[in-house]
Formats: sequence, C-alpha cells, structure tokens
Amino acid sequence: MRIVSGIQPTGNLHLGNYLGAIRNWVAMQDKVTAEGGECLYFLADLHAISMPHVPADLAANTREMIAALVACGLDPERSILFNQGQVPQHAELQWLLNGTARMGWLNRMTQWKDKAGKNREGASVALFTYPVLQAADVLLYQATHVPVGEDQKQHLELARDIAQKFNNDFCTEDAPLFTLPAPFIPPEAARIMSLRDGTQKMSKSDPSDMSRINMTDSADTIMQKVKKAKTDPEPLPSEKAGLEGRPEAKNLVAIYAAMAGSTVDAVLGEFGGEGFGKFKPALGELLVEKLGPINERFLALREDIPALDAILRKGGEKARALGIPTLQKTYDALGIMRG
Ligand code: TYM
Repeated sequence: MRIVSGIQPTGNLHLGNYLGAIRNWVAMQDKVTAEGGECLYFLADLHAISMPHVPADLAANTREMIAALVACGLDPERSILFNQGQVPQHAELQWLLNGTARMGWLNRMTQWKDKAGKNREGASVALFTYPVLQAADVLLYQATHVPVGEDQKQHLELARDIAQKFNNDFCTEDAPLFTLPAPFIPPEAARIMSLRDGTQKMSKSDPSDMSRINMTDSADTIMQKVKKAKTDPEPLPSEKAGLEGRPEAKNLVAIYAAMAGSTVDAVLGEFGGEGFGKFKPALGELLVEKLGPINERFLALREDIPALDAILRKGGEKARALGIPTLQKTYDALGIMRG
C-alpha cells in the first residue's frame, strides 16, 4: 500500500481537517508502515498560491502546519513529511498531465465554481488547473489510497480519470503507467460543519473564527466556542432519524461520536432527551480532554524552527527519490527526450 495525502498550509489546522483527514493519516501510518508500505503526507504550498496570499505568511504557516501534524501523531521517522515546494516533480508532472486533462472536466469541479464564484475572468489560472496538480501529487507516487474528507472526493475522481485516460492513450494494456488511487473517506466524520451554520462545512476560509475549533485553541476558547455554537431549542432525539432537518444538532452529535471513538446511535443512547445545556458542556470537555495534549505538543514543537525545517528537507529528499522514476516514465511515454 502507498498512502498519499496533502493539506494546504493556509490558516490553522481545524477540527474538520483533523476528524476528516489527519486522524486517518495517523491511523494509516501506524498500520501501513508496520506492514512495509509507505505513507507520504505533504503541505500543499504550491496549491496555496492559487488564491491571493502573503508570502511571509505562507512560509510561517507551512512551519506551523508541520508542527501541528507532528503534534497530532505523525512521525517523521515513519511517514514521509514534506512540502510540495521541495519536490519540483509535482509541478513537472502536472504540466505533463495538462495534456491529458480536459477543460470540460475542470469546468465541472465544484471547488472551482465555488472559489471563482461570479468572477471567473479574474480567477487565477492556478485555481482552474488546481485539480491537475492534485492528480500529479498522488499519481507521482503511484498512491493506492488517499485519505481525505468528503469535499476532496471529486478531485480524486478526476485524478482517476486523468490516470485512466493517460494509461489508455500512451500505454499498452498490459503495462499501464499510473495506479488508480482510491479515496478513503471516514463515514462518521466525512464532513464536519461550521459551528455557526450547520449547512456550511467547517473551513479555514470562514471569516468567523467562532465557526471552527482550531487544533491550537486553548481550553477556554474551545469551551466558549462550543457554548456559543448555534443549536435549536429541541432536546436531543433518542434515534438518529430524529436529527434529520436539524443540521446543527446533527453536527455536534457527529463531532462527539467521532471524538469519543463512538457512534451517533451510542451518543444519542446516552444523551437522548437531554437539552443542549447538558450536552454542550459534555462535548466541550471531551474536546478539551482530547485536544489538550495535541495543543501542548504543538506549542513546544513550533518553537524549534531548525527541527521543523529539517523534517521538511529530509522528507523532501525521500519523496523526490520515490517520485523521479514515475516522472521519467511519463516523459518517456510522451516521447519527450531528456538527454
Ligand atoms: P484542505 O487543506 O482544504 O483540507 C485538508 C483535508 O481536510 C479535509 N477537510 C475536512 N474533512 C471533514 N470536514 C471538514 N469540514 C473538512 N475540511 C477539510 C479535506 O477533505 C482534506 O482531506 N486540495 C486539498 C489538498 C491537497 C490534496 C492533494 C489532498 C492537495 N493535493 C492530494 C489529497 C491528495 C485541500 O485543499 O485540502
């Protein structure tokens, strides 16, 4: 097995990232590396320039994000941790795959439609071709599984389409070049929603910090955000079906279940019939208990900048060594001579 996934180093690591993706990165690291497979996890700094950004912030956020990932349990000795910028093969492969990706496929991407909005003419070209770089990220390493939240599913399907078309167009049937990557999405935390609006996903780009729990929030801030989270006046139902049409209640119960390693049914078994006056403090305490140790490790790690840079440099070296053979085969398949 070869596991590959990435996260944009913009803003803070939040609970949606953690429950939707990072927790699975850690679980896969523990399982897959023990069985001789590889895990590659990277900070998508090349993707981050698709939106307006401040260069000094991007560099600082890249370091903060690597500190946060290590604090969550990723181990640079077992997983290959790096930022895309250290591995130019990602951008090179993207260019080669631009010949295979179709305009129509990219035009259908919901992230492109959401982020470009009505201002398509003013959006960056990078925002449009973003999913081709994402395909290159995973195809470069022949990824078998890609742990992500639900919002990345469409990009992963596109990566499969690109791989399939390239294999069809430039390879013989018995020797396809690219492995088709399978998304791995946690059913119970596929989409964690905003604390202010249960119909919007929890996101780094939400202007309100009250909408998300950051992995770096203090205990007081977490309790405060949970207390202020939007809810409805009804008590919690005893059965899952009773959460339909109640997006905020559904989200808080899902967060509790995912954090406790339990199920929605079990949480409702315990809290069914109770109001939010009882449920919210219990959820806040659970979050503080689970996130407190991560936060402590993060605060210690973020100070040691040379150590963080060394993690990224070493991870970058290992990633380059794994990616170069596939890149060379891609040039060969396309008939591009390289000396
Ligand atoms: P990004 O940085 O937006 O998010 C990182 C990971 O967190 C997941 N996630 C969520 N999961 C559940 N609920 C939420 N509210 C939530 N918000 C975010 C995302 O699904 C993702 O798994 N394009 C990617 C980064 C990327 C990538 C890749 C991922 C670049 N190349 C190759 C996988 C493979 C992104 O912007 O994720």
